[in-house]
Amino acid sequence: MESLVGGDRPCGRMCRHYRILLAGDIEEEGMMSKRRRSLLLLLGVLVIAAVVVLFQILVPARPPEPIVFGVGLAITGVVGTIGEDQRQGVQLAQDFINQKQPGVLGRSLSGPLDLRIEDTLDTTDGAGAVIDRFINQDRVLCIIGPTLSQQQFSTGPVANTAGVPVIGPSNTAAGIPQIGEFIFRVSAPVAQVAPNALRAALNLFPNVRNVAQVNATNDAFSVSEGGTFRQAIADTGLNLAFQGTFLTTDRGTGFDQLITNILNNNPPIDLLVISGLTNDSSSLIQEARALGYDGPIVGGNGLNDPNVARLTEGAAEGMVVATAYFPGLQTALNQTFRQRYQERFNESPGQFPAQAFTAVQVCAEAVARVEASTSQPITSLDLASARRAIQQELLQFSGFETVLGPIGFTSEGEIIQQNAFVTRLTVIENPDGTISGEQELLGG
Ligand code: ALA
Repeated sequence: MESLVGGDRPCGRMCRHYRILLAGDIEEEGMMSKRRRSLLLLLGVLVIAAVVVLFQILVPARPPEPIVFGVGLAITGVVGTIGEDQRQGVQLAQDFINQKQPGVLGRSLSGPLDLRIEDTLDTTDGAGAVIDRFINQDRVLCIIGPTLSQQQFSTGPVANTAGVPVIGPSNTAAGIPQIGEFIFRVSAPVAQVAPNALRAALNLFPNVRNVAQVNATNDAFSVSEGGTFRQAIADTGLNLAFQGTFLTTDRGTGFDQLITNILNNNPPIDLLVISGLTNDSSSLIQEARALGYDGPIVGGNGLNDPNVARLTEGAAEGMVVATAYFPGLQTALNQTFRQRYQERFNESPGQFPAQAFTAVQVCAEAVARVEASTSQPITSLDLASARRAIQQELLQFSGFETVLGPIGFTSEGEIIQQNAFVTRLTVIENPDGTISGEQELLGG
């Protein structure tokens, strides 16, 4: 069939007219279908966009995975006041981190920090059960705790074998980081801080010569600190005139024989140095004052707690204690920490909550650094790799700003900390009849 528009065949006037008309129609039709196609395309894009928006509204994005740490503290038992203070410290750290408080972490975490806080009691069995649950059931990224060195010596090896990073928040006995490569601490060891207390006491009481040194024998930290004090007594040229022991379970009149021996000692004792846990040592002080000891007292780490003023019903007035934290430290982070702690818990923070806060901060910072270097949430790594990566990051810490001042870790996981202070306890009788304590700075 002959085409009306195509071909080279000669064509009459009418034929040419139709040729032009037809060509115009076809062109118009072409343009129409092009426009229709564009419209359809636009419609398609709009429909897809509407579906995407609708999907986002109806199906919310999956929330970021929580970052889970285990926190095992001796909230009840002979150091219950320490564990309770530590709980307050870690709770504040969690708030600061989840509220993205400036100056705490170098970088935000990929998800909310979820602290599993458990009471380990003051026993090794209690700590063992909690740490085991953290490792195998809660599958935590790292562990803060336990409170006591005695407990850490028992649970640390388990966590180390499982490859879980541990930050000791208050373990001060010699040998804690040496448990294994996954064990760190933010609590300066007794060997670094205890001799400072003795030197400060000598400045206050220059006539002191004969010292009675006593320590609990059923607790690893107390034994360790007792040895440190004996060495410091020898180093400062004092006379170790009496050496005694007790148990962390002793209370009240259970100390009578020990105190009578101290009071009857020849030469007479003019300084009493105590290494024990909080409740036993407080009871010892109360009983010593009741039986007539009126000389100065140097307390060890178990007595580094303003609650001792209340526990001794004021008998610990003037006690000298070395501490790794000073609430008056003039840094932006510490000022905010101290203010928020006071507002929330209605008391000034002591060393234990400050160190517990630091333990959480340090571990969270290590997680943040792992996430920065891998460019992915830590929760998308397999658990063993995530735990190892945190341990590796912790080893890199140096001059990291905390409420304790700048800290770092040695290659063994021991804290590197410049700041060390000595305080004297002031007993405050409140208008409501209760007793509280303030730690006055003697030197740092
Ligand atoms: N500093 C004490 C300890 O290490 C609480 O056990």
